[in-house]
Amino acid sequence: MKFQLTEEHLMIQQAARDFAQNDLLPGVIERDDKQQFPKEQVKKMGELGFLGMMVSPEYGGSGLDTISYVLAMEEISKIDASCSVIMSVNNSLVCWGLEKYGTEEQKQKYLKPLASGEVIGAFCLSEPEAGSDATSQKTTAIDKGDHYLLNGTKNWITNGGSASVYLVMAQTDVEKGHHGINCLIVEREMEGFTVGKKEDKLGIRGSDTHSLMFQDVKVPKENRLGEEGFGFKFAMKVLSGGRIGIASQALGIASGAYELALKYAKERKTFGKEIGHHQGIGFKLADMATEIEAARLMCLQAAWLKDQGKNFDKASAQAKLFASSVAMRTTVEAVQVHGGYGYVKEYHVERLMRDAKITQIYEGTSEIQKIVISRALLRD
Ligand code: CAA
Repeated sequence: MKFQLTEEHLMIQQAARDFAQNDLLPGVIERDDKQQFPKEQVKKMGELGFLGMMVSPEYGGSGLDTISYVLAMEEISKIDASCSVIMSVNNSLVCWGLEKYGTEEQKQKYLKPLASGEVIGAFCLSEPEAGSDATSQKTTAIDKGDHYLLNGTKNWITNGGSASVYLVMAQTDVEKGHHGINCLIVEREMEGFTVGKKEDKLGIRGSDTHSLMFQDVKVPKENRLGEEGFGFKFAMKVLSGGRIGIASQALGIASGAYELALKYAKERKTFGKEIGHHQGIGFKLADMATEIEAARLMCLQAAWLKDQGKNFDKASAQAKLFASSVAMRTTVEAVQVHGGYGYVKEYHVERLMRDAKITQIYEGTSEIQKIVISRALLRD
């Protein structure tokens, strides 16, 4: 067993760190405040190859492994978790799914521009009445011979207003339950498709989360991903990989908050010494650093399993469950270390605390991760 990153991994980590410092840090507070989508920054992420990291160069991607993806996600999330969720959805839920299950035509037409960052994508599973209980899809895709007629509403869609390509789960045959669900590739310009309300969120405010409406949208048959009825399994499979991305996002939020707390603890003096030397603060730093290291190892292990072609469903759920709770605990403590300064925007930790919460909710709540983990334990 080797606990060492390769030269290439270190280079990618450094490139992501530099990008985050130089391009994301300036303006991050303002973007959060105004709920401003980071258009320029996303464009640059595409140019640097961060939007199709694991896609083969043949389809416009960077051809890197999942470990590289975890490293880049951590660095970008330390500074701007709004950018990292855009990146995570595009990489894990959209590009990976298209490359693994798409036809050659679908890859040429949709994957290439998505992987190179020319356009971004969205993954549309949740509905007003189907979030955690994802099999209860109400959106329908009725088979009309050469096309499906898509009707329904999707909720909480990351990149909802900024994407050009949408992977939409919809029920074709209700009788078959989840075996009757298909995943369709929907283009933004298709007639009958409308982007609905933008959510006013607690955190990750730079990313845009929308509801989407489909009214008699004609989606050609060739836009179905995988075999007829494969949509639910497709969603489960890509979400499993997506959880590595969100676990890494949580890890980055935690380590970003920890680094700020450590710096502050070395600078700020009370009662004649730096606050880090007061045991109350020193112990907090020790707990944060230890938990972050454990979360990092879990993220890397899940990534390694995926890269080895082994089953990573349990590992990714465990990494997400643990890293998201570490993100929550660490950011709350980082605010505490900063005292009153932690409660104002200028010091960044209050934003990281708000951003941390979503990692316990999206791509499956913590409770959903426990379902996935316990079922795997009972099955093995
Ligand atoms: N890979 C392949 N197939 C899988 C699978 C996996 N990882 N997990 C489940 N399946 C299959 C099962 O084998 C089963 O198929 P068969 O009937 O043929 O055996 C089928 O899927 C249904 O599985 P379950 O019976 O286990 O389904 P369930 O109703 O009990 O629910 C669940 C399982 C894990 C709770 C699932 O519903 C789930 O993951 N819910 C959470 C959904 C979620 O994460 N939503 C997030 C939205 S996306 C998002 O947040 C993105 C964003 O914008 C940031």
